[in-house]
Amino acid sequence: MAGAGSYMFRAIHAHILVVGWLSLFAFAVFYALFKIPKSSKLASVQVWTALIGSFGLTAGMWVYNFNPDEVFTLIFYIIGGTVLMVSFVVFAIMTFVFGAMFHDKK
Ligand code: HEM
Repeated sequence: MAGAGSYMFRAIHAHILVVGWLSLFAFAVFYALFKIPKSSKLASVQVWTALIGSFGLTAGMWVYNFNPDEVFTLIFYIIGGTVLMVSFVVFAIMTFVFGAMFHDKK
C-alpha cells in the first residue's frame, strides 16, 4: 500500500489480518484450552466454516475490488462473508456450551 501510494487494498489487508490471522488464532487457542470431543458436530461446522469463510471473504473482497460490476464476484463476496458469519455465530454458541461444561468440572 505504501509502495503503490494507494489504500485500495485497505479493507482486504484488514480482513486478512483480523479474520485470517487474529480470529483463526483465537479459535485455535480456544481448541487448545478446551478439550472439545473430536466427534463434536458443532466444532466441525465451526472449523470448516471458519476456513472456507476466511478464504471466501478475503478472496471475494479482492476480486470484487477489481470487478465491482460482475454479479458473480458480488455473490462470491457475499457468500464468503455469510459463511464466515455462520462460523462466528457457531463459535459464540460453543463458548457458552463448552465453557459451561468445562467450568462445572473444575
Ligand atoms: C464475518 C466476518 C466479517 C465480514 C463478513 C466483514 C465484512 C466487511 C465488509 C463488507 C466491509 C466493507 C469493506 C469495504 O469498504 O470495501 C468491512 C469493513 C471493515 N471491517 Fe469487516 N467483516 C468481518 C469481520 C471483521 C472483523 C472480525 C473485524 C475486526 C476485528 C473487521 C473490521 C473491519 C474494519 C476495520 C473495516 C473497515 C475497513 C476500511 O476502512 O476499509 N471485520 N467488513
